[in-house]
Amino acid sequence: MDQPVAIDYRLLVDNLTTAILLVDGQLNVFYLNSSCESLFDISLLRASGQPVLNLLHMANDEFNTQEALLNTFNTGQPYTRREATIRVNFKDIHVDYTVSQINAEKSYHPLLLIELDQIDRMLKISKEENLIQQHQVARQLIRGVAHEIKNPLGGIRGATQLLARSLNDPQYEEFTDIIISEVDRLRNLADTMLGSRQLPSYELVNVHEPLERVRSLVTNQTKKKIKITRDYDLSLPDVLADRDQLIQVMLNISVNAVQAMTENKEFFIDHQPELILRTRIQRLVTINGVLKRSVVRIDIEDNGPGVPEEILESVFYPLVTGRAKGTGLGLSIAQNIMHQHGGMIECQSIPEKTIFSLYLPWEASHVAK
Ligand SMILES: Nc1ncnc2c1ncn2[C@@H]1O[C@H](COP(=O)(O)OP(=O)(O)OP(=O)(O)O)[C@@H](O)[C@H]1O
Ligand SMILES: [Mg+2]
Repeated sequence: MDQPVAIDYRLLVDNLTTAILLVDGQLNVFYLNSSCESLFDISLLRASGQPVLNLLHMANDEFNTQEALLNTFNTGQPYTRREATIRVNFKDIHVDYTVSQINAEKSYHPLLLIELDQIDRMLKISKEENLIQQHQVARQLIRGVAHEIKNPLGGIRGATQLLARSLNDPQYEEFTDIIISEVDRLRNLADTMLGSRQLPSYELVNVHEPLERVRSLVTNQTKKKIKITRDYDLSLPDVLADRDQLIQVMLNISVNAVQAMTENKEFFIDHQPELILRTRIQRLVTINGVLKRSVVRIDIEDNGPGVPEEILESVFYPLVTGRAKGTGLGLSIAQNIMHQHGGMIECQSIPEKTIFSLYLPWEASHVAK
């Protein structure tokens, strides 16, 4: 018979995809495995000894987690919760988890074992696919409408000019001028709705270059009233992208942030408006249904009042705006450009912390199409 193989159980536990958490009788963290470290974005060293309820921070928790944990601890009765929402770093994630008691050897105190399975990734992928589809349908609709609006405008403008000339009366000039300037405004709007007709021209770009351009534009525009903090990872690889389009994306998002901060001065009584530009490598991101091992992430963060809750889910749709003078096209155009680059934009927002994250793959698959 074969000799039993000696297994290093620590290694085994650290390679599980299930996140595992051990909790002591005071409901403090005793141990967590690697999956659990990445789920909660915290190291074992930092988490040890912390109240587990700080980690298992339930969003809208009607279920009393503390009571349930103590109950299992005292009675040994395990329990399972499905589709629980926990909040990690301002993000809601969904998990199924099971709590059971471990009757360890006599010398040890009993512990609680919590096994968590993140169901988010699947939820998120299907939600993203839906969003992308809906976004494409909406864009086509908008382009169709923009065409229809634009077609008669040339005729109206020409006829008004003829009318002005034949009336030749300063009394009516004011009215014909209004028609012409409103027609021009509509034409500009329709052009923006149609989007750029130029094909992207791809080249290798270090994302910090366009980001710095946007930073200096914003600095000049806001006359230094907004603090701009840079938090760059300078080791990022170059991406294959259209430099001008990247600038447009970053500018659309930064201008929104600046508007949110400058148009809501009453929000900044006790803190200073701040824009943070952050770059990182992000591992394991699903874009358009494909899991990417590593992508470039650019965060544009502000500490304004946040995206109004009623439009947060639809903020990338064309014509969705929370501002009286907004057209609601900036983010839709930005998202469209990012899709063409094989990337995407995500938004998370609460008061004092709004982050638009741009994800850009750095392998060239999108260019070959
Ligand atoms: N950083 C932010 N903070 C708060 N609200 C935001 C932020 N970014 C976007 N929004 C909200 O999202 C809406 C949509 O933004 P979007 O850029 O698409 O359109 P817009 O700014 O209204 O018009 P425009 O077409 O001129 O850009 C904004 O009107 C605003 O209400
Ligand atoms: Mg905008």
